Amino acid sequence: MDHINVIIAENELGEREKLKSQLAGESDIQVVGEARDGKECLDLVSRHRPDVVLIKEDLPVVNGLAAAEQISTDLPDVGVILILTGSEGQEVWHKMLRAGIKEFITRPVTADRLLEEVRKVAAIQAKAFKRAGTTPPTPTAAQPEAPKHRVVTITGPRGGCGKTVIATNLAVALARASEKVALVDLNLWGGDVAMLLDVSPKRTLGDLLPGFGGIDYDVVDSVMSKHPTGVSVLAAPLTGTFDGSTLSRYMVQSILEALREHYEYIIVDTGYANLESTLAAMDYSDLILVVVGMDLPRLRDGKLYLKNLLAANYPKEKIRVIVNRATNSKEISSTEVETILEFPVTVQIPSDDALVGSSVNLGQTFVSSSPNKPVTRALLELAEAMAPGASLEKKRTGRWFSFLQ
Ligand SMILES: Nc1ncnc2c1ncn2[C@@H]1O[C@H](COP(=O)(O)OP(=O)(O)O)[C@@H](O)[C@H]1O
Ligand SMILES: [Mg+2]
Repeated sequence: MDHINVIIAENELGEREKLKSQLAGESDIQVVGEARDGKECLDLVSRHRPDVVLIKEDLPVVNGLAAAEQISTDLPDVGVILILTGSEGQEVWHKMLRAGIKEFITRPVTADRLLEEVRKVAAIQAKAFKRAGTTPPTPTAAQPEAPKHRVVTITGPRGGCGKTVIATNLAVALARASEKVALVDLNLWGGDVAMLLDVSPKRTLGDLLPGFGGIDYDVVDSVMSKHPTGVSVLAAPLTGTFDGSTLSRYMVQSILEALREHYEYIIVDTGYANLESTLAAMDYSDLILVVVGMDLPRLRDGKLYLKNLLAANYPKEKIRVIVNRATNSKEISSTEVETILEFPVTVQIPSDDALVGSSVNLGQTFVSSSPNKPVTRALLELAEAMAPGASLEKKRTGRWFSFLQ
């Protein structure tokens, strides 16, 4: 059987040996080269054309990030995984994203995380380039093929357009198809995910921030609350309790990276569109849901916002447009919406003031309380697009079953 060929670029001997030994026992992986600096890395990679190269960010001679950028540009069939220390500044993130380097691991690197990442990147590359000599991951791999839309960020040009209503209902709908759904509320000020789900979080996102260093899953897990449907909620700080600092790109990506290891779907509710935290979540997402309202000023905002996303190089395939509070008025018909937005609309969610209003006030999602309403059907359609099976009544007999009856 063919192997996933890996090159390791790490200048510290101890770290290099550690990475090597973490990969050594795997029958589907073979380390074909080791580099001690960025230049050696470039030489080895162009000579061996590995499936995956692991590159430490701060390598000597040629900086690791610079080497990674060059490989991504010149040899796009080689999968690049950057190894970060966790103390990289913003500049590194920007460079990484601009160079299209999306895969990274922060130190200390655990064997599980390393293997998952190597196999994932090899699978992505194999699919994209159909390379000979690359095989899909072994069936025993923890994740033979990563599901497509795992991290989903909900954003929109304006507040009050229904992001949080959609995020909460979508998460609950996805919980029918998966037991591993996380919902993250990135609104540092006045996040209301917890309220809309009637959970009283003991700890929140605010507890993660003081002295934010390298973060791992256990730390994130310790501040999450469980909703009766099985959705794990990372709640925003309670209003008025937060001191006003911001969520950096690094924090957001670290949180999402940690969650990605343990959840099948991660739904991220965001605040203002232009916050660094919102942009960080969008960059890290497989899918960006853009929520726009139905009246003309909101549609015009929506059009401009979508245009800006494309100008900022967000790939069109990653973007889905949701029109919320859709009404088939005589001024704007639902078919005209796409023409105005100049973008395909994935789903239109009708307006239902009574149901949505009471669902918000009671802290109960309409997806669970009112299965047959048009708003619910629209949400289930959205969930189904992400997770086949989400629109079906849940049949599983797990411990959450009774809550869904
Ligand atoms: N489809 C809908 N029908 C009726 N009211 C809605 C609908 N979607 C949202 N709303 C109302 O709009 C308000 C704002 O929604 P919210 O999700 O908090 O917006 P955002 O998170 O984008 O600021 C909610 O309190 C809810 O009452
Ligand atoms: Mg909101």
